Amino acid sequence: MRRIAHISDLHFGAEERHIGEGLLDDLSRQLPHLVVVSGDLTQRARSSQFIAARAFLDRIAAPYLVVPGNHDIPLYNVLHRLMRPLSRYRHYITADMHPFYHDGELAVVGVNTARSSTLKEGRISHSQIDRLRAQFDSVPSHLFKVLVSHHPFLPPSHSTETALVGRVRLALKTLEACGCALILSGHLHLAYSGDAKPFHLEMKRSILVAQAGTAISHRRRDEPNAYNQIVVDGDRLDLEVRAWDGKQFATAKTKQFRRSDEGWIVV
Ligand SMILES: [Fe+2]
Ligand SMILES: [Fe+2]
Repeated sequence: MRRIAHISDLHFGAEERHIGEGLLDDLSRQLPHLVVVSGDLTQRARSSQFIAARAFLDRIAAPYLVVPGNHDIPLYNVLHRLMRPLSRYRHYITADMHPFYHDGELAVVGVNTARSSTLKEGRISHSQIDRLRAQFDSVPSHLFKVLVSHHPFLPPSHSTETALVGRVRLALKTLEACGCALILSGHLHLAYSGDAKPFHLEMKRSILVAQAGTAISHRRRDEPNAYNQIVVDGDRLDLEVRAWDGKQFATAKTKQFRRSDEGWIVV
């Protein structure tokens, strides 16, 4: 059994400090095996915001895996944006642009989808696809394989025109071949989940997608601040959205899935 805490879109610079403290409290109670941070650690990629994000990460007791988001690239400083877009992220957060966590049950690969050439959309390159294939192929096939990206692979059901990560089809084809079972993303500040296969009709195998809301920022989209707790146990996956209720993070929604020959089934 493995417990993953999936937090996203912290947006330091637009954070609500007391909610950040509440999140650290909740994480210390939930004791995840791994914390996944799916990008947008800062609001404007300023040094002070990265310093605050770094201090937050330093207070997480569990191992964590982090990828950048579009907000972690400077918006207004065009030279900085084009010449060294993620230099502050690399300096304060991590220089590892291909993070990879694995243990006896879990293999988690992170991919950087943030690009300086677009304001908010993201993309996966061919070399990143080759790399994630090699990472997943390097571990035993029975491990539960998870991809982490900032930009989404599946739109919310009420807004199917939502822009997805660039090269989504090619990436999904590779992820299917690698045995990837779950994709964790953010960016939209909306918490939802579902099988990617019914939307991407070309897919032959089911991959579950879980999107996290903004964990601690005031950039809410008509939803409370929230994060995902995911428990993987054999063929069963329990997804719990833990949302801020004004005082603490508490269970807001739960969904149980089972992996069958037909793919992920809601139970
Ligand atoms: Fe965001
Ligand atoms: Fe974003």
